Amino acid sequence: MILVTGATGQLGQIVIEKLSEKIPTSQIAALVRDAAKAEHLTAKGIDVRVGDYHNSNSLLAAFQGVEKLLLISSNDFNDRLGQHKNVIDAAVKAGVKHILYTGVTMNDIQTSPLKPFLEDHYLTEEYIKVSGLSYTFLQNSLYAEVIPMFLGENVVETGVFFPAGQGKVAFALREDLGEATANILMSEGHENQTYHLTGSETISFAEVAAILSELSGKDVSYINPENEVFVGALKQFGLPEPIIQMSVLFAAGIKNNDFNKIYGSLEKFLERTPTNIKTYLKAAYTL
Ligand SMILES: NC(=O)c1ccc[n+]([C@@H]2O[C@H](COP(=O)([O-])OP(=O)(O)OC[C@H]3O[C@@H](n4cnc5c(N)ncnc54)[C@H](OP(=O)(O)O)[C@@H]3O)[C@@H](O)[C@H]2O)c1
Repeated sequence: MILVTGATGQLGQIVIEKLSEKIPTSQIAALVRDAAKAEHLTAKGIDVRVGDYHNSNSLLAAFQGVEKLLLISSNDFNDRLGQHKNVIDAAVKAGVKHILYTGVTMNDIQTSPLKPFLEDHYLTEEYIKVSGLSYTFLQNSLYAEVIPMFLGENVVETGVFFPAGQGKVAFALREDLGEATANILMSEGHENQTYHLTGSETISFAEVAAILSELSGKDVSYINPENEVFVGALKQFGLPEPIIQMSVLFAAGIKNNDFNKIYGSLEKFLERTPTNIKTYLKAAYTL
């Protein structure tokens, strides 16, 4: 039995969908917090199990009979490492053999401005390494889907306004990452491996602006504001402080070229070229 956590989240749903296209649903279990959000999974024959990363007993019960477990990292920053440790401890107790973990691929977390925000991925990996479980680390690049999150819906009119300098990112689509993850989950030979899953091109925000110009036929500028100007603008939009802080840190990490390395693993596990950013932007902004 393969169990996928975060199964009602965006990446988890893709992984489950791709798995169920290729293996019997009787071999798939889904960990969810709210069974009502997973009725479509139950209807497909997937074994829906309710559990919460904050509740060890619920995890231990949910992991019975599971051999391979995909831990999709939590989106809740309230003791995220502690939540992941609960999952890992419960997996060990329940007799799970192999854990796969979705982390992040970065050049050097120690020198990154994003260290306070993303170091827990690496600490989770360290905890898994000493747990005795076989492991596979799926270090994902930044999702292409964060681009509209950072730039907003009206970017063609407003221009690209983001303090990422000339930093480049090997963005990957969630859809591609989910498909590759499913392919890894249902094949053998990935014990104690780390895979860096990135797109096949790197792109700067100036290049994002140039692509949007080309696709829209309008002149989409790239403005690389000072941090104070950026923060002031986000405050004026009424964005909550944690979102502002997150945007500033991600821009700084990108400017620092934390995510600018291309690896071949995503292409290898997809058995095709990952979707390029121009194709993604065209669809995302319906251009
Ligand atoms: N590489 C990137 O650019 C990038 C961007 C954003 C996020 N991430 C990371 O990648 C993960 C997956 O991405 P995503 O887009 O699928 O995120 P998402 O849609 O926000 O899904 C997160 C999943 O985690 C589950 N979850 C949160 N707290 C939980 C808890 N206490 N117990 C059990 N489940 C819990 C959520 O459950 P519910 O469905 O019940 O809410 C949801 O299914 C994120 O959680 C985050 O750590 C990476």
